[in-house]
Amino acid sequence: MTDEVSRPCQAFVAPSGECRLDSAEEMRAAGESLGGLLTAGDVVVLTGALGAGKTTLTQGIATGLGVRGRTQSPTFTIVREHKAGVPGRPGLLHMDAYRLLGEGVHDAAELPRELVLDTLESLDLDADLADRVLVAEWGRGVVESLATAGSRVLDVDIDRGAGLDTEITPEEEPRVLQWRWSQA
Ligand SMILES: Nc1ncnc2c1ncn2[C@@H]1O[C@H](COP(=O)(O)OP(=O)(O)OP(=O)(O)O)[C@@H](O)[C@H]1O
Ligand SMILES: [Mg+2]
Repeated sequence: MTDEVSRPCQAFVAPSGECRLDSAEEMRAAGESLGGLLTAGDVVVLTGALGAGKTTLTQGIATGLGVRGRTQSPTFTIVREHKAGVPGRPGLLHMDAYRLLGEGVHDAAELPRELVLDTLESLDLDADLADRVLVAEWGRGVVESLATAGSRVLDVDIDRGAGLDTEITPEEEPRVLQWRWSQA
């Protein structure tokens, strides 16, 4: 890990970057600052192994946006809606495409593109996206296309920084977060 990564997370301010988050609380705080930066139509794509912290980051984003309802993994639905809670600020669509992965497939990159697109189409999200923020767990390479023209796409990659140290539990393992903004 480089010095750059071990510095406190100035998350999401630069066009791209990398930082380290030592706890779920830090992950939520980073998400909260991100939530304050997001505007309607933006799409955030979260990539990371099971338990990486995607939902934890999303909880922070929801707080930063000030939306209603508790954020949790939408296990039985693919998308959960959180209505706007602050006047003039967008609501949140929290998507978890994990269920679309084939059995035994744990790599987001292997999500079948057609299946994701068909599912998104059947959910009829397009109409709602212009005045909401979409945060998607899994689905990189596909959900970006849902961003409203002129809005931004934020690609976030979450990695367990400590690697395969079996002495520490996942909750104690620092995470390394890499992000990159682009224009839709
Ligand atoms: N930066 C962090 N440092 C340590 N633990 C963390 C960090 N971020 C999240 N965690 C913890 O890791 C666990 C898994 O987090 P979370 O549910 O957010 O992962 P996920 O990526 O959404 O998993 P899934 O793929 O199952 O949806 C939780 O117990 C959470 O508190
Ligand atoms: Mg999750």
